[in-house]
Amino acid sequence: MILKTFNLSKFFEGLKALDSVSISVPRESLTLIIGPNGSGKTTFINTVTGFYKADEGRVEYEGEDITNLPPHRIFKKGIVRTFQIPRPFKKLTVIENLMMPLDNPGESIRKAIFGSWINFEDEAVEKAYEILEFLNIDHLSFERSENLSGGQLRLLEIGRAMMADAKLIVMDEPLAGVAPALAHEILRKIRELCELGKTFLIVEHRLDIILDYADKVYVMGNGRVIAEGGKEVIEKPEVVEVYLGA
Ligand SMILES: Nc1ncnc2c1ncn2[C@@H]1O[C@H](COP(=O)(O)OP(=O)(O)OP(=O)(O)O)[C@@H](O)[C@H]1O
Ligand SMILES: [Mg+2]
Repeated sequence: MILKTFNLSKFFEGLKALDSVSISVPRESLTLIIGPNGSGKTTFINTVTGFYKADEGRVEYEGEDITNLPPHRIFKKGIVRTFQIPRPFKKLTVIENLMMPLDNPGESIRKAIFGSWINFEDEAVEKAYEILEFLNIDHLSFERSENLSGGQLRLLEIGRAMMADAKLIVMDEPLAGVAPALAHEILRKIRELCELGKTFLIVEHRLDIILDYADKVYVMGNGRVIAEGGKEVIEKPEVVEVYLGA
């Protein structure tokens, strides 16, 4: 397992947003977390990646305790996350976004004002182009990111994670607002990346599209894991019930 949580909990003024969640993410796989609105999926991602402090429990990555490390330390270990709403630098082109370090954009902006800000070393440029080609968005290299479609933005986010040599890529609703054909293309790329050694932990609502691509599924309800297994878990009565009750 690349990632494990043990009884991870997060409380907001009496609300148990995460209630003793234990999950295991197998290496080089796509692990999916589903559940109705407000069931704690984003809170889980935020707590694992250091954006929220856990109140109880433990997070282990590659066998190491990373609980409550700050986000940049977790990033440096190879865990890169995306947000429910993509956050590229809109005025920058696709290739510039890839060249912009993800961990410390503040520092990059300082350099933008005082001098050369993007690492235009040949190697980095070459790596960026290889990634864009792999993701089939090399034709968009010089397009401003604000002109990209929802799906193209998701591919750009994956590209930025690859640029940072992420080992574990954590994505919050990567298919939201993405047309079905492109959604399938994104998922095929994710499967290819799993073959190449990357691991994905994905929160998603569009079960009709994503379920067939998942190796393992966790279902959350009211801050807890209520079911886990293969894609057949969605037929379990407790899962149907939590969706109907939402
Ligand atoms: N920063 C916060 N402060 C207070 N309450 C929060 C905070 N973040 C999340 N919550 C609450 O925790 C619960 C779980 O929210 P969360 O965003 O994790 O759900 P989700 O499963 O991601 O939902 P969705 O599918 O709508 O994105 C909700 O009741 C939410 O209001
Ligand atoms: Mg959410």
